[in-house]
Amino acid sequence: MNDVELLRDALAHAARSLGAPSDVAPIVERPRDPSFGDWTTNLALTLAKPLGKKPRDIATALIAALDLNALHVAAAEIAGPGFINLRLRDNWLGRQLAAAAGDKRLGIEPVAEPRKYLVDYSAPNVAKPMHVGHIRSTVIGDALYRTLKFLGHSVVGDNHLGDWGTQFGMIIYGFKLGFEKHPELFPSAPSASTLEHLGELGTIYQKVYKLTKENPAVRDMVLNETAMLHAGNRMSINLWENIRKRCLVGIDEIYGRLGMTFDETLGESFYHRELSGVVRELLDRGIARQSEGAVGVFFDDDPKATPLLVQKQDGAFLYATTDLATIKYRIERWHPDAILYVVDHRQSLHFGQLFKTAKRWLGLDGVELTHVSFGTVLGDDGKPFKTRSGDTVGLESLLDEAVNRALSIVTANDDAKPDGPELSAEQRQRVAEAVGIGAIKYADLSQNRTSDYVFSYDKMLAMNGNTATYMQYAHARVRSIFARGEGRGNRGEGIGEERQTIALAHPAERALGLELLQFAEALDNVVSDYRPNHLTNYLFALANRYSTFYEECPVLKAETPELKRNRLALCDLTARTLRQGLNLLGIEVVEKM
Ligand code: ARG
Repeated sequence: MNDVELLRDALAHAARSLGAPSDVAPIVERPRDPSFGDWTTNLALTLAKPLGKKPRDIATALIAALDLNALHVAAAEIAGPGFINLRLRDNWLGRQLAAAAGDKRLGIEPVAEPRKYLVDYSAPNVAKPMHVGHIRSTVIGDALYRTLKFLGHSVVGDNHLGDWGTQFGMIIYGFKLGFEKHPELFPSAPSASTLEHLGELGTIYQKVYKLTKENPAVRDMVLNETAMLHAGNRMSINLWENIRKRCLVGIDEIYGRLGMTFDETLGESFYHRELSGVVRELLDRGIARQSEGAVGVFFDDDPKATPLLVQKQDGAFLYATTDLATIKYRIERWHPDAILYVVDHRQSLHFGQLFKTAKRWLGLDGVELTHVSFGTVLGDDGKPFKTRSGDTVGLESLLDEAVNRALSIVTANDDAKPDGPELSAEQRQRVAEAVGIGAIKYADLSQNRTSDYVFSYDKMLAMNGNTATYMQYAHARVRSIFARGEGRGNRGEGIGEERQTIALAHPAERALGLELLQFAEALDNVVSDYRPNHLTNYLFALANRYSTFYEECPVLKAETPELKRNRLALCDLTARTLRQGLNLLGIEVVEKM
């Protein structure tokens, strides 16, 4: 339990001892004005009705029932109509900070009861290029994966590729059509090895896609190619394998650039042999039934609900059939406590029905199935983000653009340094990559995932505000203090490690120290509702506290050597917390920028 949870727990206990209902859930907040203390709760006010007493009297009784010493509270006061304000003991805070500084994990203990999570994320439909719509699942999934793992859970990251759908029928069709008949489908001239032309996959896909829209006969032929593939036609399978391989090379390049890897990349194709068995079993068990030649799972408890189709009239299986086979496989293979699906909110009906069906079919007692849904990335016009010509924006060009813009910012910033530029051309490029990609990730993660957000390079690369750039800059600024040879190994790492305590005499030191100690809470919040923006909010608050501290408390010019060491320890812990926090979001930091 983190510190706030302990406090809430103690308050709930105290409330129950006064006769409060057993489900009492105290709310604890940090007062805006630090002179009111470190924590405040309105618990006494909320208990006035159930207990039939005056809030201030309840507050007095609550304080009496709390073990203030065990909670490290120095002072408990009743304010206004009955708020309880608590102030923590400075020497306890100081010791906690020193302990965090002396710990590789920054004082974050692994969870007492680790769970096994399977995170299903990214999952692009390959054979078409990755586009802006893939950012959210990829970035949110990666952040959740990293955070869960850091907290000590066991996590499997599975990239459930769409590698078995109609898009392959399109490519195979385009490919078979050949160069003679439709040279326009193949932008480069044929060469000896036919598969080399798969380099133009994206173009082939787009052209065939256009043809299917113009000509229903082409659409039928594409469907026929897909059916032949699903039926196991040798030539189709052979082509498919090669196309898939080529696709993976392409997407792996992007994942490499994003700094991410997966434990599994099974993809829909992995399950195709199981699909007929799934449908048969659902029919045998009476979970699914025939209707107008198709097979579906019906939700009779909700007469308005549409059925979940698992087989079409023509015998083809569907997205849902594969997802059912996938759940069964995952349960047998991994025995997870939770499966998280990081997927667009437009699929919420699908997941709702999928989870219900899976539970009827497999039981799944005690297994959490959660659709971690998210909103849409919008353009300036408030509509889904598109290029000027109305095409979807390729992910690669998006990354390139962000990195290019970051390079101009980094260059201008470096050129403007009072003592002249510090970075070589390569360093600038490396910093620009970290800043550009960090900006895209952070802009996404800092949104409440369920809302839509407007994609704006200017906003995401701003040096001030809740951006990765600001956080990376804050980190580099702290590190620059150590660049002058302070601390161990000339890098300053772990300067606070051997301290017994960190003194918090100045209000800005205290505010920073208190914030540093709330890292654990921020991480727990990320996991409790799978929202990485709890962590971005925390990092933003931390960077702001540091900024005030830095303005008000001279570090290298502190009045005494002891004060200087003490403040350096706070700086070091801040830099490490920023770095660790950004790392859990998949964002790199740099030493100089
Ligand atoms: N490939 C799918 C899409 O692009 C997302 C897959 C999500 N995962 C799943 N198990 N259904 O829409």
